[in-house]
Amino acid sequence: MKSRILILGACGQIGTELTAALREKYGKHKVVASDIREGDADMMASGPFEIIDATNYEAVENIVIHYEINEVYLMAAMLSATAEKFPAKGWHLNMTSLFNVLNLAKDKKIEKVFWPSSIAVFGPTTPRVNTPQHTIMEPSTVYGISKQTGERWCEYYFHKYGVDVRSIRYPGIISWQTLPGGGTTDYAIDIYHKALKHNKYLCFLNAESTLPMIYMEDAIRATLDIMAAPAEKIKIRSSYNLAAISFNPEEIAASIKKQRPEFAIAYEPDFRQEIADSWPQSILDTEAQEDWGWKHQFDLDAITEEMLKNLEKTYKK
Ligand code: SER
Repeated sequence: MKSRILILGACGQIGTELTAALREKYGKHKVVASDIREGDADMMASGPFEIIDATNYEAVENIVIHYEINEVYLMAAMLSATAEKFPAKGWHLNMTSLFNVLNLAKDKKIEKVFWPSSIAVFGPTTPRVNTPQHTIMEPSTVYGISKQTGERWCEYYFHKYGVDVRSIRYPGIISWQTLPGGGTTDYAIDIYHKALKHNKYLCFLNAESTLPMIYMEDAIRATLDIMAAPAEKIKIRSSYNLAAISFNPEEIAASIKKQRPEFAIAYEPDFRQEIADSWPQSILDTEAQEDWGWKHQFDLDAITEEMLKNLEKTYKK
């Protein structure tokens, strides 16, 4: 019985912590990490690692065969802000890597796939408050279009070919271990770094930009839970809405000020404002709760405490 996991894009913000969590849960030799570049010392020392370009089908297939992989987590992607700058590259990376993995599953070379979707699948015509699972979806960013299209293909591969693909529409993910790259929700991480370094932050979104967010520990738990659930529980094969908390820059600044009263925030919105304005403010995740028992744990003040405590330690090293 094969029982090996491959993570594509293991050195990114989610991939880094997902790799550690999967190695902890299943044993380090069962989890092969991969990316287009080497990871940090922990990543390289904690289990097998391969350099792979997720858009190269043969490269992915070779590793799948070599390690007898049966489960793939496809975390390689170009996020919203960067994909607006490089639309063709973003589309190519996000879609080609997905087809590579879905086709490996269709051809029975792997058995199970995790693919992350995002709140970016929604658009300016979507109801913005308590956005339900099924609603108007007209994404206006390259990233959002790639995630919406990807969802349709995941569902198609499930219905037509029986591919066991599972997916979550992640909110903005807040974490301290690895920096995010090129997202619109990245301000909610950068603000903690700047609070510790300069006691002030110049925010690229305006004060009222409320967006759905989640702490990394919750996001990882959701990922492990949806993948561990019995197949019949996973009734949605496009992607599940997932909610934790919602806040705007003014509210996160107020949460930081509770611990660092001298902290100050100023606003200078840039092109990312338009992206944020096209996304929901809050998400309804009834289906994730009912189908596989989802419930978040971290609220804003708990996140602030964790972020400041852990980042302070890393800055002192
Ligand atoms: N956090 C992502 C971004 O901002 C959304 O999935 O692009």
